[in-house]
Amino acid sequence: MKNNHSYNKYLAGRKDWDTTARVRNCNETYDLNLLNRTFDGNTTWHLPSYSGILNHSELHNIRNLDKKFIMGTQLLEFVIKTTKFEIEYVNKIASKIALGELNLSIPQDMKLDALKIYTDEGYHAYFSQKIANQIIDYYGIEDDLTSYTNKYFSYLDGILYGENASTNNLAMLACVIVSESMIVNDIASEMKEIVYEPIKLMFKNHMIDEAFHGKYFLTLFGVIWDQLDDSHRIIFANCICEFITIFGKPRTDIYYYSLGKLGFEEKNIRKMIDEIYNTNEWKIDRVKSKMGQILSALELNQAFNYSAINEKFSSRNYI
Ligand SMILES: [Fe+2]
Ligand SMILES: [Fe+2]
Repeated sequence: MKNNHSYNKYLAGRKDWDTTARVRNCNETYDLNLLNRTFDGNTTWHLPSYSGILNHSELHNIRNLDKKFIMGTQLLEFVIKTTKFEIEYVNKIASKIALGELNLSIPQDMKLDALKIYTDEGYHAYFSQKIANQIIDYYGIEDDLTSYTNKYFSYLDGILYGENASTNNLAMLACVIVSESMIVNDIASEMKEIVYEPIKLMFKNHMIDEAFHGKYFLTLFGVIWDQLDDSHRIIFANCICEFITIFGKPRTDIYYYSLGKLGFEEKNIRKMIDEIYNTNEWKIDRVKSKMGQILSALELNQAFNYSAINEKFSSRNYI
């Protein structure tokens, strides 16, 4: 195995997993106590920079309460999506790895570790949903938000199931490898803006576990890459590129809900989103920095020597 070195490094780095995993070592209840707490203009659960849209000049003068609603529903969208992603995507692939259903040769240690991931993600889904329910109660939200949150999953499913059925597993692996290798960065940037301690703790606990998962899936990338023939490497890397684009995109769907509730027309919301997010900084620079680890893994494995892969990544300015 060409990636022996990184596999051995993975084995050494995972020694503390059992004693560190939050599901096995944390007594936190994730009760936010939001309804008994008043957040006035100065005390919010986020910093205003959390929601990029608030930089738009049309939103500079809205009430603090409304700014908080925009930030709170953005956090809500994040935890709702996390819950679904953990159990329907990461754990789907974790169970296939654990049960040896992928038609790939995966070391025994990694098959067993897939069950640790399965356990962790079940716990993450639990605390994410628990936080979601409390934000929903706090705002008294009765609307069904799935039309806003599910859009993202339909983009994912379009790539996952749009390809030839024989490569579905490869596409699913690409999806989870990309998301798991960027999630520590993603959580770190979400957490940076959170000022309310109980929510910060949820992010912190999640990040501790994801540091192990990130190393696992980057190692798995090498294990898989070594086994693929050229045509499958190209399919795999091209799926990775698609998922980099989807996961790297700024999360703006929920603004149609929050700003709509505040009385903004859909046309105007679209215009504001476009003016803030349709920039190289959001579409390329931030994506590349979030995806640094998987881009380096591709580079290290000389993926960009394949012209079909090189062209695809170059066309999106990722390399
Ligand atoms: Fe997780
Ligand atoms: Fe994870």
